[in-house]
Amino acid sequence: MKPLKTTLIATTVAAVAGLGFLYSGVYNIGADDQHIKPVYWALETLRERSIAARAGDIEVPPLDDPQMLLTGGADYNDMCAGCHLKPGKKSSEMSAGLYPQPPNLSLGIEGHAGHEGGHGDVNTSAARQFWIIKHGIKASGMAAFGPTHDDARIWAMVAFLQKLPTLDPDQYQILTARAEGEMQGMDHEGDAPEATAREASAGHSNSDAHHGMTMDQPATTAATSTPEAAMAAFQAAMKSGDAALVKRWLAPEVLIYEGGAAERSRDEYAAHHLGADMAFLKKSRVEILKQSSGGSDDAAWVTTESRIRGESSKGKSIDLASTETALLKRTAEGWRIVHLHWSSQDFKPKL
Ligand code: HEC
Repeated sequence: MKPLKTTLIATTVAAVAGLGFLYSGVYNIGADDQHIKPVYWALETLRERSIAARAGDIEVPPLDDPQMLLTGGADYNDMCAGCHLKPGKKSSEMSAGLYPQPPNLSLGIEGHAGHEGGHGDVNTSAARQFWIIKHGIKASGMAAFGPTHDDARIWAMVAFLQKLPTLDPDQYQILTARAEGEMQGMDHEGDAPEATAREASAGHSNSDAHHGMTMDQPATTAATSTPEAAMAAFQAAMKSGDAALVKRWLAPEVLIYEGGAAERSRDEYAAHHLGADMAFLKKSRVEILKQSSGGSDDAAWVTTESRIRGESSKGKSIDLASTETALLKRTAEGWRIVHLHWSSQDFKPKL
């Protein structure tokens, strides 16, 4: 036989066999049936080469704006955490049953089962994530968010993903909490007049700060709905070491008494003691012993007695009894702190 004829016959046989395989129903398409190794390798290589070829030219914008973290964090919690999990959560109904399994993005690259690390430097990894979120991955459960979210919203999610592996469950909760009155961020036409008025009366324009998000839905989280929750969020923000997050909970005119000294505005506190206070709390363990609260719909007080164990700036170990009085007022964005009074002494165990 001539070589050409042999090739033709071989091709025909292969095509018929292939069609036979498709039609026979032999292949198990169930997500609970794993690919054999060579198929897995082929799919993974196809995915990574395809993404690398397309993400290479993407220019990564600065990702360190705290506002991006807040926007991206809230979006992640709403749309992604069900599959990609969050700090302290090892599996969900979605993540366990999907195949390929969604990587746990709250762990670093090392935590991605089946994915070799080495997506390179931060820029390469950010560009790769941006491309994946925008375009999705065929036949995997990973949807394309490009059709419903503009690039700024997607970059905010990327900014959050870069930070996510370093967050503990408390910090995660703070970063992903939506401020009261802030909406989920889906596109919609025509602001309610009331929302527009609220936005105008707020100190800053919310839509600027949140990449065009508008407000029309009630809070999706409890973080700003009670004075105690606002105080817990403030404490966790202090512990996270992120000044921008801390400032979110302080009214601009906040008055802070600390050890006999007074700081008379948020800016003054941010410029003076905030840094040292955050550094101290970051290394300390705070145990709340007693908390009470009261007030009206617009103004509230929260008093807290706690025990703080940690290290002084000189490395000496300390054990303090600490008292805190906080006054809060309700604003269009939720509860904000207008006064704090802190004092402490050495902790004396009750005999
Ligand atoms: C229905 C479940 C599901 C949801 C919801 C989902 N993903 Fe995914 N995602 C997946 C799966 C499955 C993969 C793995 C695909 C693969 O390996 O081929 C994936 C992969 C990824 C990857 C690549 C991870 C890596 O390093 O390989 C990123 C980044 C990602 N998703 C981000 C997001 C973000 C951000 C959101 C929310 C806007 C989101 N995903 C929502 C299922 C989901």
